[in-house]
Amino acid sequence: MIHDNGSSNRSGNRSFEDVLRARMSRRNVLARGAALSATGFLAALAGNKLFTQEATAATAQAAGDAVAQGTGTAIAQRSGSLINFSFVRAADGAGATPSISSDYQYEVLIPWGTPIQPGGPAYNGEPNRRPTAAQQAQQVGIGHDGMWFFPIGDGNDHGMLAINHEFGDNTHILGKEAPESLEDVRLSQHAHGASVVEIRKENGRWQNVSSSNARRIHVNTPVTFSGPAANSRLLRTAAGNAPLGTVNNCANGKTPWGTYLTCEENFNGYFGAKDAAWTPDEAQARYGFSAEGFGYGWHLFDPRFDLSNSSYKNEENRFGWVVEIDPMNGAQTPVKRTALGRVKHENAEVVVGQGGRAVVYMGDDERFDYIYKFVSDSNWRSMIARGISPLDQGKLYVAKFNDDGTGNWIELTINNPALRAKFADQAEVLTYTRLAADAVGATPMDRPEWISTAPNGDVYATLTNNTRRTEATPPNPQAPNPFGHIIKWRDSNNHVGTTFTWDIFVLATDTHSTEKSAFGSPDGLWADPDGRLFIETDGDQPEVNGVKLNDQMLVADTNTGEIRRIFSGVTDCEVTGITVTPDRRTMFVNLQHPGNGDPSVTNFPAPQGSGRIPRDATIVITRKNGGIIGS
Ligand code: FEO
Ligand code: CA
Ligand code: CA
Ligand code: CA
Repeated sequence: MIHDNGSSNRSGNRSFEDVLRARMSRRNVLARGAALSATGFLAALAGNKLFTQEATAATAQAAGDAVAQGTGTAIAQRSGSLINFSFVRAADGAGATPSISSDYQYEVLIPWGTPIQPGGPAYNGEPNRRPTAAQQAQQVGIGHDGMWFFPIGDGNDHGMLAINHEFGDNTHILGKEAPESLEDVRLSQHAHGASVVEIRKENGRWQNVSSSNARRIHVNTPVTFSGPAANSRLLRTAAGNAPLGTVNNCANGKTPWGTYLTCEENFNGYFGAKDAAWTPDEAQARYGFSAEGFGYGWHLFDPRFDLSNSSYKNEENRFGWVVEIDPMNGAQTPVKRTALGRVKHENAEVVVGQGGRAVVYMGDDERFDYIYKFVSDSNWRSMIARGISPLDQGKLYVAKFNDDGTGNWIELTINNPALRAKFADQAEVLTYTRLAADAVGATPMDRPEWISTAPNGDVYATLTNNTRRTEATPPNPQAPNPFGHIIKWRDSNNHVGTTFTWDIFVLATDTHSTEKSAFGSPDGLWADPDGRLFIETDGDQPEVNGVKLNDQMLVADTNTGEIRRIFSGVTDCEVTGITVTPDRRTMFVNLQHPGNGDPSVTNFPAPQGSGRIPRDATIVITRKNGGIIGS
């Protein structure tokens, strides 16, 4: 999302500036600039099969392609490209309507205001007919972001779609800058959260259908806590109010046991303080709480969100978690999994590691914040058979990127003397995860967004940008870093070890000289089973051939490093969320906050010129020849 709330990391953890300086002088690569020096030093890692594809990179560069350092393992064998579609030209990459590769087509599904059950109250973007709070609670919310498709039957034309509603500004939802009543606040709250809809392809078009398991989960929906912090005093209020709701649901995850994970990101922005004398304590400051919040004004009418109301002290600790939703059971109570820690969660990438353990990679999206990993205590199937959630018992780690291209996962445990000196118990470590990570020397990164794992074990993470970085470091090698980069690593011991090796996959600035690949601010990410990496953007894009590009989606061939634009959004939108049917011949992505909600910029998805308020929506993408998406 747009709000990134500055930076609250004052830990002074060692950044890599000294290390970088030392390495740069050793390798004498300064003349080629920070970008190439970052990749150069990694290519020199002896004996690391992951990072040995300089020849391919050089070939691609000679052909004028943007070069991303892909995995070296499959290069020697592979001749054809994984990406063979016509790219979206820069001239088509701007404006009020989306553009897609001429080899592809798209349709629009479930825009904001679509009734969860067909026949329910609908909102179509008419400026003077906004939904009531009660109607919004029965409709698809706003701020479409992370999502996952859960097949029914073979799933290629039918399934449940679980989708996040990250945020909508007051002007977009309410048509005014600040709420004037509790009804206004409830309308905003009901537009946030997540939806589960049942969708089906009928007569060649995808649509949502009536469903006993479709539902809205919003800021006032009952939730429960599970895991080590579930019964902590830090999650209880003097008011004794039951836990309710999820907010700023950014990206997502999907478990091997078929549930959906929704991740709470900029939750701090929904809180404020009515009492001008209120000041944040250490933990509140580290999570970015302020008297004004992001201007939602919920605290003016709903005391749960008033930081200065002592009856609701600790309500703020109930947000910032990964929340598990069963998309196939509309009666299930969403569960906040405290073992995964409390940060500004971007997504939760779940893989099955050594011994069948559930491993969850997670980024904390703020300037100079960290990358985390959770590893379940044992095999996920055996834990579930014993009635234990694999997400309730395990170890939480934070990443430290070392000088020599290796890294360490540092466990965040109360048994660590550095943490025992500061925290009372593991529940406190998990509730104040950021402070715990500060205390153990984690590596400050350039806004970690999505993480996705390729079938060969490479883990990719977007570092979207960081305009406040003043010193380049090997894992964050540009200062400032206005356009971001993608880093990758490979864990020891099939995702469950405590060490890893890492490399830079691509610096966005290296793509800017080539029309088909130019992008900035990488955010959404998905590695497909063939070696493609789908990259979605949110934020500043480069200007190409005199055109300032809209946010977009591109596909990288990780074997060759080639990158091509497949889709371009509308002015002032974000392209995010990515999921496919099992045959990978249908892909769903999202357009978030088109035109930033301004109907004078775009009326998407209504016809341009209709005067309708633009609405966040899902885009269904198919290849005209019926092929695999990305091919
Ligand atoms: Fe919700 Fe960091 O994007
Ligand atoms: Ca972003
Ligand atoms: Ca977003
Ligand atoms: Ca994001």
